Amino acid sequence: MKIAFAKPEVPSAGAVVVGVLADLKMTPSAVALDKQLKGALGRAIAASRFKGRPDDVLAVLAPAGTEITRVVLVGLGKPAALDDLAAQAIGGRIVAHLNAAGEKEAVVLVDEIAEAKLGTGAFAAQLAYGARLRSYRFDKYKTTEKPDAKPSLKKLTVGIADLAGARKAFEPLDRIADGVFFTRDLVSEPPNIIHPESLAEETKKLAELGVDVEFLNEKQMKKLGMGALLGVGQGSERESHLVVMRWDGAPEAKDKRPVAFVGKGVTFDTGGISIKPAAGMEDMKWDMAGAGAVIGAMKALAGRKAKVNVVGVIGLVENMPSGTAQRPGDVVTSMSGQTIEVINTDAEGRLVLADAMWYCRDRFKPKAMIDLATLTGAIIVSLGQLHGGLFSNNDGLADHLLAAGKAAGEPLWRMPLGEGYDKMINSDIADMKNTGSRYGGSITAAQFLQRFVKDTPWAHLDIAGMAWTDKDSPTVPKGATAFGVRLLDRLVADTYEEK
Ligand code: BES
Ligand code: MN
Ligand code: ZN
Repeated sequence: MKIAFAKPEVPSAGAVVVGVLADLKMTPSAVALDKQLKGALGRAIAASRFKGRPDDVLAVLAPAGTEITRVVLVGLGKPAALDDLAAQAIGGRIVAHLNAAGEKEAVVLVDEIAEAKLGTGAFAAQLAYGARLRSYRFDKYKTTEKPDAKPSLKKLTVGIADLAGARKAFEPLDRIADGVFFTRDLVSEPPNIIHPESLAEETKKLAELGVDVEFLNEKQMKKLGMGALLGVGQGSERESHLVVMRWDGAPEAKDKRPVAFVGKGVTFDTGGISIKPAAGMEDMKWDMAGAGAVIGAMKALAGRKAKVNVVGVIGLVENMPSGTAQRPGDVVTSMSGQTIEVINTDAEGRLVLADAMWYCRDRFKPKAMIDLATLTGAIIVSLGQLHGGLFSNNDGLADHLLAAGKAAGEPLWRMPLGEGYDKMINSDIADMKNTGSRYGGSITAAQFLQRFVKDTPWAHLDIAGMAWTDKDSPTVPKGATAFGVRLLDRLVADTYEEK
């Protein structure tokens, strides 16, 4: 789908979209169009349940005296509630409606709305951003789909008086959407296509944007002593990889230390010898969504040339059962020197992150380190699919992440850490074990990670419940969500970026 901005004019063909505020207050464009159509819009509203609420959409088909295919009335809700996220959701709903309706081209007329939190340029840009986010579809493996089952919308034009303002505001958002789409693609790909070697290969594409990409292969990781990460991958035919991505967007910064993102990249998690049940195992292709989000965030930041130094480190492994697989009971030595008794080979993400995070802090001395991982089923039990779990050793960082999540529409909820939980992972024969008890599973997992960060300001985002969705929402079609990309971009913009 193409998105364009133009001066606000009613087109001579295709669809027109105009807004109606809460309590049925028509925007100026709606009023003008209604007049031109001799009151058809007002009559349609009166004959319906349309109230101008944010979920309301009403189409008036083939209005008399025009070549227009339809006028779509979209609810804008209360003007004072019109912020970035509300504008994005409106854009998303418009796209969903037009695709379902079979419309090929449409013009959205954006008006000045007094009391709105956004100027018209920003409103138009956010609406266009939401429209683009919703237009995502992963259909490359569908070869027999009928044309009328495919999304129809080819071009959406946003009509806006402040053309220059809208275009300028949209440019960085469009780059963030590029990052989101890249992540959604990587997470959606099946596990025979995306495995540690091919996912590492994909990251090379970021070099075009000026990101420095480096690989560590198994031999190099062995030399560094990454026994925890390597143990997880040792049952797989595919070679494990650690990928380091660097974007130095603030070479002149006073404090040149980077912000670090670390991602769990288990390209498929069978559970290993502690094998998972068959039902739903196919979902474990998205056990690399943490790494996927780190890759997408790097793409977004480099794409919009963010004035920040960031490093992304992802640990890529495939967790398979085989004759060479690690066993429950094995003891492995991590790069930090700490030993780990592997009680359950399905608690593999923490083993991967232990070495990836140790390496990251050891080499880059980041001012903050944030890891993202589909780490535990327990976090889904705690928070459902509405918040990612946030764990942190630093209140300031935690607050910045909570705020960024809220602003970006990727909300987090803070969970506790503490000595009592930490004790639950002490082992009888090694420094620690990789599982706690049945209780507090996502907390003991976070506690495990904390043993590898020392005093680096650190936060762990358990995104197991957020990486994938079975139902559409305004800006996230069902499937891979790319949860974390918009949040990390926003964190950087609000907290770390040079002005
Ligand atoms: N990748 C899973 C966690 C997961 C579960 C993500 C469901 C998304 C949806 C992780 O590696 C795992 O298997 N965790 C175990 C840990 C347990 C063995 C201590 C879990 O949550 O059951
Ligand atoms: Mn697992
Ligand atoms: Zn896993």
